[in-house]
This record gives sequence, C-alpha cells and structure tokens, in this order.
Amino acid sequence: MKSGRIGIGLLGLGIVGSAVAEALATNAAYAARAGAHLELRGALVRDRQRQRSARLRDLALTTDADALLDDPAVAIIVELMGGEEPAYTYLRRALAAGKHVVTANKEVIAKYGGELSALAAVNNVALRYEASVGGGIPLIAVLQRDFLANEISNVAAIINGTTNYILTSMAKDGIDFAEALAQAQHLGYAEADPRNDIEGIDAAYKLAILAGLAFRTPVHVADVFHEGITGLRARDFRYASELGYAVKLLAIAKRTPAGIQARVHPALVQQDEPLAKVDGVFNAIQIEGDLSGAVMIQGRGAGPGPTASAVIADILEVSRNLREGRTPLAAISGASAVPVPLVPMQELRTRYYVRMSMADRPGVLARVAQVLGEEGISIASMIQKEVDEDAGSAEVVIMTHHAVERAFQRAIARVADLDTVPEVGTFVRVMEKV
Ligand SMILES: NC(=O)c1ccc[n+]([C@@H]2O[C@H](COP(=O)([O-])OP(=O)(O)OC[C@H]3O[C@@H](n4cnc5c(N)ncnc54)[C@H](OP(=O)(O)O)[C@@H]3O)[C@@H](O)[C@H]2O)c1
Repeated sequence: MKSGRIGIGLLGLGIVGSAVAEALATNAAYAARAGAHLELRGALVRDRQRQRSARLRDLALTTDADALLDDPAVAIIVELMGGEEPAYTYLRRALAAGKHVVTANKEVIAKYGGELSALAAVNNVALRYEASVGGGIPLIAVLQRDFLANEISNVAAIINGTTNYILTSMAKDGIDFAEALAQAQHLGYAEADPRNDIEGIDAAYKLAILAGLAFRTPVHVADVFHEGITGLRARDFRYASELGYAVKLLAIAKRTPAGIQARVHPALVQQDEPLAKVDGVFNAIQIEGDLSGAVMIQGRGAGPGPTASAVIADILEVSRNLREGRTPLAAISGASAVPVPLVPMQELRTRYYVRMSMADRPGVLARVAQVLGEEGISIASMIQKEVDEDAGSAEVVIMTHHAVERAFQRAIARVADLDTVPEVGTFVRVMEKV
C-alpha cells in the first residue's frame, strides 16, 4: 500500500458492482471517512465488450482474475460476482494472500462462511459481508457488535424482497401466484429464473448466515428447512385476512431447549404484528435479545443503491482499520466450542391453517376431524367457504391447535387419502408471537 492510498480490486461490475464503482469514483467524501484515498485498481468482468456506464470509462476492465488477485497494490478485494464458483476460490485466494475481503455473496458466505472466517483470522485480515443479507439494512454488524451483550432467543425475518413483493400483490390485488410473479419479473423485482427466490432457497442462505451470528454457532445451509410460496392461492390471502392474519414468507431461527430451529416457509402472521405490515420489496428483521428485548429493523433489502451502501460501508471500515493498524473484529459465527444441534423440522410444534375441499354431505367433516384427532391434531376452528354445487364439494378452512409437524404431516396424508376429500390444498404454519 502506497502511503495515503488503498488499492481495491473489484470482482464483478454488474448491478451492484457498477453502483459501488460509480460511488467510489465520484464521492470525494469517502477519502476522509476511509482515512485514505481509495484507488479502484480494476474490475473483473466476463465480457469486456459489454456496454458499461459512461462514468466508468476510466476503470480498467479485465477478464483475468489473477490481474487483481496477484496485484500487490490491491489491499481489499471486493467480490460482487455472485454464485458459488469461481467466487469461492477467488475469496480463498485473496484471504490466503493477506488481502481483506468485502463480499455481497450470500451463497458463498452461507456455505463457507465459517471456513473463510477462519482463513481470514489466520491471515489477520478482515472478511466483511454486510450486503449478503438484507441489502442496505444494517444486520450483520448489528448482530456481530450491537447484540454482543445479549443471548438471542429468536430471529424472525422477511429477507427476500421478490417473494414479499409477490405475496403483497396477491394479498392486495387478489391475483394468483403466476400473475404476481409475471408482474414482479416485468418490474425487475424477480429474475427470469426465479426458483431460488420462490422456493425459499435465497432466504435459507440468508437465514443460515443470520442464525450462525445470532446463536454464535455454525449453521449449515443444508440444515435450514425451506418451503416456497408456489402452493399459495389468492383465496388463501382472503381467508387468512378474514381470520386476522397476513401471509408472509418468514425466515425463523429460534433457540429452544432441544437446540436451534432454522426454517423458511410461508406463515400466517397476526395482522397486528410489525412483520405483517412489511410490504412490497421491503425486508425486515425482528431480533429478540434477553437484555435488548425485541428490536425490529426494516429497509430496502436489494437494489443497486441499498446494496452499494452496505458494501461501501464495509470498504470504509476495513480501510479505516487498515490505516490505523487495528486488528479486524474476529468472526463470531462458528466461534462456539460446542456446536448447538439443529432441531429437525419434524419436531416443530406449531399451529396450522389448512384449506381443503371435501364432499358436501353429512358425516364428511366428522370423519376428517376424527382422522386428525387420531393423530393428536385438535381443531381450533373450522369455516366452510365456497360450495361448488356442480362438483358437490365444499371448501373448508381448518385452524388447528398446537401440533407436532410429524403428526400433522401424517394426518394430512391420511386425510388426502379419504374418498370424500378430493383435494387437500395449502397448509400454512402460524407464526407464534415473539
Ligand atoms: N442485485 C441486488 O440487488 C443484490 C442485493 C444484495 C446482494 N446482491 C449480491 O451481489 C452480488 C452481485 O449481484 P449483481 O446483481 O450485481 O450481479 P450481476 O448484475 O449479475 O453482476 C455480476 C458481475 O460479475 C461478473 N461475473 C460473473 N461471473 C463472472 C466470472 N465467472 N468471471 C468474471 N466475471 C464474472 C459479470 O460480468 P459481466 O458484466 O461481463 O457479465 C458482472 O459484471 C451477488 O452475490 C448478489 O447475490 C445483489
């Protein structure tokens, strides 16, 4: 590092990378906040011919990662490529070479965060990933620093803007999933291949990161249960609303006597809960600490501006520490000597909403209730909705009392086998009040 200058190598110059590069190139105030002039040494791209913003005309582009990873003048590697490979390999190389790393890559951090943190610690460099969860919302540093004094019991979050936008449209406009998804794609809120979002995979990556930090133990993404939103119908939102609930894709991590629960699935959230009011592309997280009580943080979870905000904050912090010779804050995720076990989803105890159609004749409801009862599921309320005269069936919504997931799944499979039940539609778990 030349005195007064800190060299930055940017891996990726897409939506977020361009926003970061433009801000670094144009905001003169950053030098004072970093304690040094930040010198963007170059950006790695896949296609050098691609049209880039005119404001990045002077930025050197390369398709050769070595040009930045081996550049001795690069002190900080900022990875904004996304995906597991080659990003993971590049981050390993950067840390091993003694370069600080800032990344927005939730997939790599969820899968390899513990290993990369350990590598950073050995090499006495920083690994910062504020933008990997919740875009511009401060979450990672909040869990790493501001909750240090707390034992956290519960984290409940809306951390996927795409699905929250789709669910909000379904609830407010009464449209079905396919139409809401098409709208989200048209507006650029959903990708052409939306699977990672709508199946809850993106939220599971983020929850693995948050749960690891909240409970100071490694949480493997493979152990995070995830269920997406494709089974929901417009009428589920109507019925839920009549019962006093909103429907949200929640990411929940909870400490229980048996271990940690970590799960992503649609949930009925009571309308007076703060999370029920988080709409559109907004994200929010509710954290319950023993000293702090419940804290809720809300904001824009994606987009070039909010994400660049988090990335640049990490760059500025790393730079300041570098200038002042401070050792990076040691990673907390994975720091627990004895890993806390994860509780299998089958052992979850919660309440359920179930929508099913059944033959519209005497005795059918009683038979369904009997099957549920035999599996230990008791019904809290049952409402008959639409009757289909032609099919001779009625749609019924059942709310259960607390039940164990394993027994509930067994009961639902048995009910679905009844001749008098043509369809078991959606079931949705109910969020417990924090
Ligand atoms: N977009 C958001 O709102 C948002 C929010 C939070 C977090 N993030 C995270 O931020 C990261 C970047 O997202 P993004 O939306 O900016 O992605 P993006 O627009 O697809 O940009 C990716 C960039 O990386 C380059 N790249 C990809 N693979 C490469 C390879 N193998 N070799 C060389 N260059 C490669 C691409 O080069 P070309 O330009 O030549 O194609 C492009 O410049 C991801 O980890 C994402 O999850 C994004």
